[in-house]
Amino acid sequence: MDFTGKALLAPLSTFTNLPFRLLCQKYGADGSTVPLISARALCMRKSPVLELDPDPSEKSVGVQIFGYTPKDIGEAAKIIAKKYDFIEYIDINCACPVKKVVATGAGSALLKKPATVVKMINSASECCLPVTVKIRKLETNKKTLDFCKKCEKAGATAIFIHGRYPEQYYSGDSDWGVIKYIAENISVPVIGSGDIKTISEGDERVAYSKCTAFMIGRAAMKNPSVFSGGSGTELKNKKAIFHDYLAICESYDRIEFTDLKSKAVQFFTGFANSVRIRRKAALSKTYDELLAAIENDY
Ligand SMILES: Cc1cc2nc3c(=O)[nH]c(=O)nc-3n(C[C@H](O)[C@H](O)[C@H](O)COP(=O)(O)O)c2cc1C
Repeated sequence: MDFTGKALLAPLSTFTNLPFRLLCQKYGADGSTVPLISARALCMRKSPVLELDPDPSEKSVGVQIFGYTPKDIGEAAKIIAKKYDFIEYIDINCACPVKKVVATGAGSALLKKPATVVKMINSASECCLPVTVKIRKLETNKKTLDFCKKCEKAGATAIFIHGRYPEQYYSGDSDWGVIKYIAENISVPVIGSGDIKTISEGDERVAYSKCTAFMIGRAAMKNPSVFSGGSGTELKNKKAIFHDYLAICESYDRIEFTDLKSKAVQFFTGFANSVRIRRKAALSKTYDELLAAIENDY
């Protein structure tokens, strides 16, 4: 697991499924993380966890888990490591600000409980895969660094950091100053996240912050070709991207109407009159209607 200089697809719950991760990799993403798998659900194993879909054909893939007890996190890490021997790392989510996750004591609630996170890193490390942690920034740079140092000491092998407070959700700018401060003061790789819209912006952020790599999230939702420098501003390119996505879904037997619709609504933005195709796609009720909406001349 070497993150040096990589442009990674950020984990995006419900969006970065296997076909989307492969699509971004086709366009140049160097790797990704399966997003937000519930450690509790995995330990209970009442039903298969459908979102847990890593595949050996991915370039470099980790699995992100969330939970509130070190026991669940440790057990989930073992289950994943045993089932998927090609996984490169297990990532513990300490970043998610969504209320129903935070209310259980998981996600960004863990930023207030470094001792619990240390125990989680210890128990997850028993699965023998590298363990990473994804965080948001804490109240001060110093508190963020203290948290990261504790993770590092407990054995975390990399820190992913989104430079916003949990309370900000996605408002304001991602603070690359705090990412720089962390990168300069810990020894393990730091992967920065927040507001990167092009590869050259990512390279500039890495040069500024001295972090090891960067991730692209929302910009890739709208334009998966961002990883190969595609501007994503032409309808014909968007159609090509959608058809590439469809082909990957077909080859993995993953054609899901609601997923295709949500991808179409995201992809078809950023060009003149894009609202017309988006509206038609959003109103489609069947797979055929969706394809017809996309094939239409606008
Ligand atoms: C729809 C959506 C879902 C997200 N889901 C996750 C997630 O499951 N796990 C996670 O660590 N971060 C998640 N994030 C945060 C992103 O990984 C990323 O850190 C953040 O969006 C900032 O990067 P960006 O400006 O490139 O989007 C999510 C963000 C969005 C917009």
